[in-house]
Amino acid sequence: MNLKDLFIDYFVSLGHKQIPSAPVVPENDPSVLFNTAGMQPLIPYLMGQTHPYGTRLCDYQKCIRTNDLDSVGDTTHHTFFEMLGNWSLGDYFKNESIKYSFDFLTKHLNIPVERLAVTVFAGNNLIPFDEVTYNEWITLGINESRIAKTVEDNFWIAGPTGPCGADTEIFYFRSEDEIPDKFDPEDNRWVEIWNNVFMEFYKHEDGSITELPKKNVDTGMGLERVVAVLEGVNDNYESSVWKDIIKVIEKVSNKEYKDNKQSMRIIADHIRTAVFISADNSGIKPSNTDQGYILRRLIRRAIRHAKKLNINIDSNWEEEIAIAIIDKYEKYYSEIKQNKNIVLEVLKNEKIKFNKTLEKGLREFEKITNNLSNNVLDKDLAFKLYDTYGFPIELTVELADELNISVDVEGFKDKFKAHQELSRTASAGKFKGGLAGNSEIETKYHTATHLLNAALKVVVGDYVHQKGSNITTERMRFDFSCDHKLTDEEKIKTEALVNKWIKDGLNVTVTEMSKEEAINSGAECMFIEKYPDIVTVYSIGDVSKELCGGPHVKNTSEIGTFKITKEEASSAGVRRIKAIIE
Ligand code: ALA
Repeated sequence: MNLKDLFIDYFVSLGHKQIPSAPVVPENDPSVLFNTAGMQPLIPYLMGQTHPYGTRLCDYQKCIRTNDLDSVGDTTHHTFFEMLGNWSLGDYFKNESIKYSFDFLTKHLNIPVERLAVTVFAGNNLIPFDEVTYNEWITLGINESRIAKTVEDNFWIAGPTGPCGADTEIFYFRSEDEIPDKFDPEDNRWVEIWNNVFMEFYKHEDGSITELPKKNVDTGMGLERVVAVLEGVNDNYESSVWKDIIKVIEKVSNKEYKDNKQSMRIIADHIRTAVFISADNSGIKPSNTDQGYILRRLIRRAIRHAKKLNINIDSNWEEEIAIAIIDKYEKYYSEIKQNKNIVLEVLKNEKIKFNKTLEKGLREFEKITNNLSNNVLDKDLAFKLYDTYGFPIELTVELADELNISVDVEGFKDKFKAHQELSRTASAGKFKGGLAGNSEIETKYHTATHLLNAALKVVVGDYVHQKGSNITTERMRFDFSCDHKLTDEEKIKTEALVNKWIKDGLNVTVTEMSKEEAINSGAECMFIEKYPDIVTVYSIGDVSKELCGGPHVKNTSEIGTFKITKEEASSAGVRRIKAIIE
């Protein structure tokens, strides 16, 4: 049995419900490009909203962190990783959480207690020393000398503001050396394997901290790291997570891993992340902005390293690697299976596109660097490599780095911005008066979305919550939490209720209020912490009340006839409705 299954089975046996992994691209949360932690999709529930699955949850969550993208190639950095987590939403707290983790590590993974050490929050002027946690570790048999107290490293928060709290981190002694009696968290033979956060506070923009409505537990365990630790390898890529993928890269390159570690790691990591991004139901494609740009960078960097290994770029090497990755993960993530063809197509198309200019670009790069009078590649040359040959600036920097040449990245960015402004103005001109903004039909769809959300709550159950939506001039798409396929009766009733409300000619009104007031009034919202302190709340008669930026129609009678065209699974535990207005 593998770690993922062991972890889930264990927490399920302790009354936790397994929740599905959220998509890698967060829905309706423009503040981050990718999901970076298991707790991120759970923020509304950590803030007090009732979770449809109850108060004890566990999962494995797909996470992408791109801040360390350039470090990939060493033994431990990955752009994609899976985080195992368990949560208590106002249910159990410190003692149980610590005991659950301890039992899992010592009884289920059979880690000897002597190999474990922990850190505990030491206390500061806002929050006192975490005595409960300290005492629980002692009770469980962790020696005093293996408990370190820290302040900064034992307070966890995802960003500058949000739900947060003191945490306790569990470390494992990875080395063959004799285990020192005294635990030093700075000694890198001790590897952090699990983090238990006791989320009871909310940090506001002004730095103040207030209590959350409930005391929660949020834990996170990085799968890749723990598997490597348990299997006793110092290079993550030699663990069972990566072995099969590396083998395929050895095969397609006809080279051995031991002589080509850096390039093979980059290819393995980047293709795996590219598979997960392009399989995501958000439909991200390689582009020059946001998630699409990350996807492009990953694929292009992988191609460049494939070239370094003398892989024939025209062959199906990327497909072979991607298929090995898909085979490995499809059991756990349904979208990987469903969108397999899309993934392979994205990789192939991007490869073909880049391959057309790669060769010439590399030659141009060589020419440029041979003729440099100093060791700096200027902004115009960097921009030429980007614009003409499709070299992401990061790739130019990496290539230059290998020759000890620096690149004027700031200058490039200015030039890039100016170029973007120019094309934006051009396209704004082109679409002037067109459908780029919120057209009348899109406004109608927007109001219909609120009605649909309210109707589903009546027909299917109060636990239904919006998970995402997307509106075009042709149709609306609405994702919502729901554990079953809607029956025909439910669909008919939902559609009929929306149409009744349209016919009733309900007035749509907007009020401004404080965020607190909005929550207390029971207004529906998805990511409360993403909203400013004063929010706008749209009410439709007395059937719907949602935090929303608008725009909406003035009266529901303006909408027309609402028709559900499709109901399908979006991801596990999330259903999707497509609907039109006629
Ligand atoms: N949210 C905590 C972390 O990411 C568990 O470490």
